[in-house]
Amino acid sequence: MQAMSQDAQPIAAQIVLDTIRQRRTTDLLKLRPDPIPQDILENILSAATWAPTHGRREPWRFTVFTGEGRRKLADLFARAYAGSSAPDHASPEAQQNQRDRVMKAPVWISLELHIPQPPKFPQWEEEDALACAAQNILLAATAYGLASKWVSGVAMISPLTAQELGAPELRGFIFLGYAAEAPKDSTRAPIGEKVRWVQE
Ligand SMILES: Cc1cc2nc3c(=O)[nH]c(=O)nc-3n(C[C@H](O)[C@H](O)[C@H](O)COP(=O)(O)O)c2cc1C
Repeated sequence: MQAMSQDAQPIAAQIVLDTIRQRRTTDLLKLRPDPIPQDILENILSAATWAPTHGRREPWRFTVFTGEGRRKLADLFARAYAGSSAPDHASPEAQQNQRDRVMKAPVWISLELHIPQPPKFPQWEEEDALACAAQNILLAATAYGLASKWVSGVAMISPLTAQELGAPELRGFIFLGYAAEAPKDSTRAPIGEKVRWVQE
C-alpha cells in the first residue's frame, strides 16, 4: 500500500471525520425502495472485513438479504417474534408487522459472531472486533450516501434467528437503503464531559 502524501492527509482526515459525523441512524419508514448496486454492497462488506481483529481471527460472518431473498428473513423474523416473550408475540398483526418491516429496506445484513475454536482471546475482544466491523459497514454505507440502522429488536437477536442462520451468536442486523428525506440529526455530549487529559 502506498503511503499517503503529507498534503493529502488533512483532506483524507476531513473526509473521514465528515463521514463519521454524517452517519445517522435512519428510520425504516424513511427509506426509498431502490436497490443498492451489488458492487457497492461488496465494497461495504469488504470494509467490514478490514476492521481490527486481535490475532486476525476475523470472528464475523454476514448474511446479506436482498430482493426476494428478504422474504426468507421476513418469515424468519415473524416466526422468531411469535416464539419470543414480547407481550404481543401471539398477535398475528404483530407478526405480520415484523414481516412487512423487512421489505421496507432493500438490504439487511446479519452481524454474526463466529469465534474460531479453540478460543484464544477473551470473548469481549472478539465481540468488539465484530462491533468494529459493524461500524465499518455503517461508515462505508454513509460514504456511499446510504442511510443505515443497527437494529437489535427481539426477532433480530433471537436464538431462533441465530440458529437458522447457523450463527453461534447474533448481534442484530444492519439495514441499508437510500433515504427519502434527510435523517434527523443526533446529539452527543461535548468531549470535555467524556475525556480526561494527562499532559504533565
Ligand atoms: C448495538 C446497537 C444496537 C442498536 N439497536 C437499535 C434498535 O434496536 N432500535 C433502534 O431504533 N436503534 C438501535 N440502535 C441505534 C441507536 O438507537 C442510535 O445509534 C442512537 O439513537 C443514536 O443515533 P445516531 O446513531 O443517529 O447518532 C442501536 C445501536 C447499537 C450500537
